[in-house]
Amino acid sequence: MATKQMQVPELGLKAADQKSVVQVLRTVLADEHLLYIKLRKYHWNVTGPQFFSLHELFEQQYKAIEEIIDEVAERIVQYGADAPGTLQEFQEESRLKEHPGKIPDAHDMVADIVADHEAMVRHLRDDVEVVGEEHEDVGAEDFLTGLLQKHQKQAWMARAMISGKQV
Ligand SMILES: [Fe+2]
Repeated sequence: MATKQMQVPELGLKAADQKSVVQVLRTVLADEHLLYIKLRKYHWNVTGPQFFSLHELFEQQYKAIEEIIDEVAERIVQYGADAPGTLQEFQEESRLKEHPGKIPDAHDMVADIVADHEAMVRHLRDDVEVVGEEHEDVGAEDFLTGLLQKHQKQAWMARAMISGKQV
């Protein structure tokens, strides 16, 4: 299959910088997909006295991630690049980890989701620095800062479920 030549839009950024920013966005897109799929898995498989709350929490979160996914992918296209759309690429490029064949108990599901959101906050903090300072892309810097804030809020909402009284 022929690879389409990347048409670089005139955004006031060097072509090399745009390419690097696209790479950062691809990694974020892969991370968001892994987290999305994990949230669906937990939404389907959670059991126990908190079933309904957690079933709902995971659904609310995967719906929020679904919106993020679309925004990240469309942002990649805005640089004149192609948005990746295969599970193989997402798995290869993601910084998050999956646990095939394992169904954690309700508490560990929430703890895992909290850990992933917090990992996203840490990764995005680095990504913000890379796109802002190294590549001087204030648009991407602002966009990724917004994502960082969304993950920080989701981490809090999930963490609150396992704080105090045990799930
Ligand atoms: Fe459902």
